[in-house]
Amino acid sequence: MTTAFPYALVADAPNPSHELVQVVRGRRSSLAISIAIHSTSLGPAAGGCRIAHYDDPAAATADALRLAAAMTEKNALAGLPHGGAKAVVALPTAARPTGAERTALLHDLGDAIESLGGSYIAGPDVGSSPADMSVIGERTSHVCCRPVEDGGSGDSSLHTARGTVTALGAVADEIFGVPELSGRTFGVIGLGAVGAHVARLLDRAGARLVVTDVNPATRSLAEELGASWVHPDDALKTEVDVLVPAALGGLLTKHTVPLLRCAAVAGPANNQLDEPDTARLLAARGILWAPDVVVSSGGVIHATGVELRQESEELLTERIRGIALTLRQVFRMARDLQTTPAFAAGQLAAQRVRGGE
Ligand SMILES: NC(=O)c1ccc[n+]([C@@H]2O[C@H](COP(=O)([O-])OP(=O)(O)OC[C@H]3O[C@@H](n4cnc5c(N)ncnc54)[C@H](O)[C@@H]3O)[C@@H](O)[C@H]2O)c1
Repeated sequence: MTTAFPYALVADAPNPSHELVQVVRGRRSSLAISIAIHSTSLGPAAGGCRIAHYDDPAAATADALRLAAAMTEKNALAGLPHGGAKAVVALPTAARPTGAERTALLHDLGDAIESLGGSYIAGPDVGSSPADMSVIGERTSHVCCRPVEDGGSGDSSLHTARGTVTALGAVADEIFGVPELSGRTFGVIGLGAVGAHVARLLDRAGARLVVTDVNPATRSLAEELGASWVHPDDALKTEVDVLVPAALGGLLTKHTVPLLRCAAVAGPANNQLDEPDTARLLAARGILWAPDVVVSSGGVIHATGVELRQESEELLTERIRGIALTLRQVFRMARDLQTTPAFAAGQLAAQRVRGGE
């Protein structure tokens, strides 16, 4: 990268699988900002800005690399003209910066994004919000999802939820032979921004709901929808047709897969598998897993469509419905290749990226 940085470049290491990896130290905040661009083969790389505590700043860079590669898959599978990237700001403690301190780190992040000349388009992720995108936007125009009143497309969680429910139709079709959600039981883990919308949409579709969250305040939504509530520790063991992870990643492991009592797992939570091999454990138990990179793409489809391509809501609804078609294609490929949907999704994404080269 030849762009002059207004602050110290800590590392600009060549990486065999990524186009660009940079770690800079913000001149205002002194925080380490890692930006990984995995691919721009299909277009400018889009991906969120994670602001989180890391004991070891090197782990933040490793996370940026891993998450950027997943964004390449997500964007390719969503049919978007975008590659994948991620920014990670490593906080030294669990305390969330506020006020002037937060503004300083967001301006540093904005400068780092701007220095990449538009090859990276940033959005919100864990630890950052649409309001933060407005502050980043004071330093760069390469940012999505500012609040609607600031000229952005705002919170994408409803669109992520719409995509998830569309995906659940394809999952129901695959396991029951009919796409209807009515009368099926879904176990929604996490009633946050996306999970609450998913629960409401499933309720509207006539589904039965078993829900949980570590935040007891979300129980009121369960009561409002007449959903059964389970303790978070029991969520994985609850008998449901489809388990819908909508909280944190890393939920599916060699320890948790044997506990499951469901026909399928499909939800918006990112990085549900602790490691790629866990996909095989799910398949061995006859549990269909819908890759999260496909299921969770409604938000990025909507945000980039509104802000970067000025697409109509009608077209965006059609694109979000396309998530079900992609998922059917992944399931079909997995059957044909006698492999897991996770592997098939990776193959399909790689084909699409190669096609864009
Ligand atoms: N917001 C989006 O548009 C979007 C887009 C793509 C993917 N995702 C992914 O979807 C997931 C949810 O995102 P969100 O924006 O709704 O986040 P959020 O923080 O609003 O909601 C997460 C919810 O999960 C709950 N939770 C945390 N740990 C839990 C546990 N162990 N058991 C049960 N509940 C638990 C939290 O209390 C919270 O209510 C994340 O993995 C996120 O990366 C979100």
